[in-house]
Amino acid sequence: MPFEATPLVASPLQLLPLKPFMIEFKNIKKSFDDKVVLDDVSHVMETGKANLIIGQSGSGKTVLQKCLVGLFEPDEGEIIYDGVSFTEMNVEERKLLRQQIGMLFQGSALFDSMTVEQNIMFPLDMFTTKSFSEKLKRVNEVLNRVNLEGVNKKYPAELSGGMKKRVGIARAIVLNPKFLFCDEPNSGLDPQTSMVIDKLILDITREFNMTTVINTHDMNSVMEMGENILYMYEGKTEWTGNKKDIIFSKNERLNNFIFASEFLQDAKDMRMLEAKGKISDDRDMEKMLKGDKLD
Ligand SMILES: Nc1ncnc2c1ncn2[C@@H]1O[C@H](COP(=O)(O)OP(=O)(O)OP(=O)(O)O)[C@@H](O)[C@H]1O
Ligand SMILES: [Mg+2]
Repeated sequence: MPFEATPLVASPLQLLPLKPFMIEFKNIKKSFDDKVVLDDVSHVMETGKANLIIGQSGSGKTVLQKCLVGLFEPDEGEIIYDGVSFTEMNVEERKLLRQQIGMLFQGSALFDSMTVEQNIMFPLDMFTTKSFSEKLKRVNEVLNRVNLEGVNKKYPAELSGGMKKRVGIARAIVLNPKFLFCDEPNSGLDPQTSMVIDKLILDITREFNMTTVINTHDMNSVMEMGENILYMYEGKTEWTGNKKDIIFSKNERLNNFIFASEFLQDAKDMRMLEAKGKISDDRDMEKMLKGDKLD
């Protein structure tokens, strides 16, 4: 039985028939002083998927995510949750929607002075009227889901980076959200721990049929989870597609970003030639790597 946050008043979202919980945004513009940071960005984030926002540092990924959850107000454009305009919601309606949004912040953003249990219980204290034992039951459920049983009484300083991320994920899903936002969930983690975190986010997304939005510049994540990718370049939508499309994309900026090293560029060229039937055996591969011409 899923744990439900107690709504304060009837939500406009509850009045809608059951349908995919998509997030759509159209023509989003955002400037700080005279600097344009988001310039006409549009996309649809799909349900049950890890939707990735990728791009170089400073391309606008965090600002876009903050606009989507209402931490920044876009100058122009529209954001639509489940067919309902977020842009036009009043304060009370936005508050209700926020209860359905889980957020994993960059660096996990746990409260250092609180235990793991208190950190995860915080959203339940804020948004529900459940008894302590009900809240504790839910805390233990989500801790169990992220494979972290028994760390209730530990403080964040006593945890590894990967464990902190898992506590952050547990806190983000404790209210059983429909939407999950993760800003650089792998920052500061080694590649293997990163993959474990990616897999956890992906599994949870599918299990609870959430619409998950992930900012990343981790190429392993892109190739692992890239079902629906928005590539941003200097605040604009430069490319959209999935991980398979990336392999064959001719977009030069995307290629330079994804296949940053010469080695990866070669690997991509080989993959394309292979697909075209031009590379037939290991000998051809060796020639390609040495830069020789194929027969
Ligand atoms: N509160 C703010 N005030 C002014 N400028 C800001 C603010 N927040 C972000 N910016 C600017 O917006 C641009 C995009 O920043 P953003 O943090 O979205 O980049 P990013 O793609 O998330 O980068 P990174 O990969 O390093 O996290 C940057 O030039 C940044 O300086
Ligand atoms: Mg960022």
